[in-house]
Amino acid sequence: MLDLDETADYTEVQQPGVTLMSIVTVLGLTENTLIGETSSSEYSSEGGTPTFDRIPFRVKAGRRPNLNTFVIALRQDDDNRAHYGRIIAGSELNLRARPGGMQKDDAYGMRRTDIRSSELSPDLVRVMEIELLGEIFVKDDNSLEIAEPTQLPHTGQSVYELPAAIIPKLLNIPEKDDSAKDKPISTSGLYLGNIESGGHSVPFFLPNTAIARHIAVLGKTGVGKSYAVGVLMEELYEKRIPILSFDVLGDTEQTAKELEGKHIVAGTDDFKIPYSIIGLEEFLAFIPNLTSDQRELIASAYGNVFDEALDKLENGEELDVPFASLIDLVKRIGTSINSKATDNAVRRVQAAFNRNSLLTDKPVTWTELLADAPLINIYVGHLGQWQRNLVVGAVARILQRLRRRNHIPPFVLIIDEAHLFLPGGSDLPPSTLVLREMIRTARHDSVGVVLLSQSPSSMDRQILLTCNTRILFALDPEDLRVVAGQIGDLPEETIKRIPRMPRGTAVFTSGMDIMRHAVIVKIRGRTFTTHVAETPDLREAVEKWRKEH
Ligand SMILES: Nc1ncnc2c1ncn2[C@@H]1O[C@H](COP(=O)(O)OP(=O)(O)O)[C@@H](O)[C@H]1O
Ligand SMILES: [Mg+2]
Repeated sequence: MLDLDETADYTEVQQPGVTLMSIVTVLGLTENTLIGETSSSEYSSEGGTPTFDRIPFRVKAGRRPNLNTFVIALRQDDDNRAHYGRIIAGSELNLRARPGGMQKDDAYGMRRTDIRSSELSPDLVRVMEIELLGEIFVKDDNSLEIAEPTQLPHTGQSVYELPAAIIPKLLNIPEKDDSAKDKPISTSGLYLGNIESGGHSVPFFLPNTAIARHIAVLGKTGVGKSYAVGVLMEELYEKRIPILSFDVLGDTEQTAKELEGKHIVAGTDDFKIPYSIIGLEEFLAFIPNLTSDQRELIASAYGNVFDEALDKLENGEELDVPFASLIDLVKRIGTSINSKATDNAVRRVQAAFNRNSLLTDKPVTWTELLADAPLINIYVGHLGQWQRNLVVGAVARILQRLRRRNHIPPFVLIIDEAHLFLPGGSDLPPSTLVLREMIRTARHDSVGVVLLSQSPSSMDRQILLTCNTRILFALDPEDLRVVAGQIGDLPEETIKRIPRMPRGTAVFTSGMDIMRHAVIVKIRGRTFTTHVAETPDLREAVEKWRKEH
């Protein structure tokens, strides 16, 4: 039973005309949600003692709170203030189930039937541990306020499951302000999934502010990263935020079409890169087996072209430095220094340019698409990794300048298989450095970045750190170790469970100002896009192949 002090004197804190309500009343806590009583024992097997970090409690007979449930623990001295946290561990102590005793029973041929006769058995104790997250209190106007933990929790106090509706307030994330077609909506948040607590579920809205602070979506293959980012794309689409996505596996082609976007294959007429902007090292890499004389000649000519292109980009002009200008420059410089390499250099450059389908000297139009199409998906899966890097690096360079000059709207850049584009270590190709630099400064340009990876351990650490919000799916322990230090306030127990999380379930962590605590979210289903990347059944696939051949 609740033991509310009816005689307490509230006059000191009371505003005229407002009766300060107890936390139990404001939260609507009832006998139905009472799950136990805070406890204390010198034995850790009995849950130990309350501290500023943990509160053990004895679970009431018949109650079965789930792991990770958010709970409230009352205080003895203050009806208006309580502790809140979540269940992170539990144990059942049963004096009748001691292995020694059970062995004796067997040895003497006695079969005890009352080992766990009922949860009211005097020899059975169920203890759970609350990870203490903070304090919640009633303000003068009877609204709720959240604070850091300050007080040592009391023993013998009621513990309640927290009503799911309060959870967004605890996390300081948006609550739904509308619904459409049975889907909750918030203007200030992205509806990505649901939080489950105490047998109830509330919509989880990632605050809009998280987008421009970058998001890393990490997890083993097949756990639901791409699916979740598809959900994110639906939300961005509804908020009319343009998306640019680089696609290695072809996952996003279907989604792009469904979101009235454009699917573009790099290297086709729809998408080429101005040769003038890719940078010297990338350009030279297109021309194999140059002699050092040829190389020097081409390098100094290309240097001029590149500078001109950067100028044009700064001034918002088309990147259309004619290829003939480069050839011209090579000839002129070659002649002026009497280089024997001139003719061959010209021929090599010409041949490389003709052979190549990625580069162009014509103005490109794909830069304008961002202003109109909600989603542009650039497919780079058919290219070698070196060319993929080149594409992503050049696009990053171009869009960053255009964005700075406000020629294109703010947008979200999404890179799947990001470890391929942003590997860790030194000695990185220049296009990787360009992309890295772009991501590092993207926040100031109002560009949000979303990186997906199955292998955070092989990714650039700085870039991972730049991503304020992490969406962690099941990860291998080695990869988990890489991000564990950056997970925020998740307790050891919960981190240890991350490798075993089911598909479609993720831990969201972020900066304190975006989301107060880490939380486990069940990613919602897609509502108006389809995810095509089904994991193939090899037996079926082989059978199909045989039928066709
Ligand atoms: N939240 C979810 N709800 C329903 N199906 C899902 C969910 N998440 C993933 N799936 C399914 O699981 C499979 C793998 O998901 P995917 O997102 O492609 O994994 P990843 O990108 O992590 O490799 C897909 O077939 C997808 O349809
Ligand atoms: Mg994927």
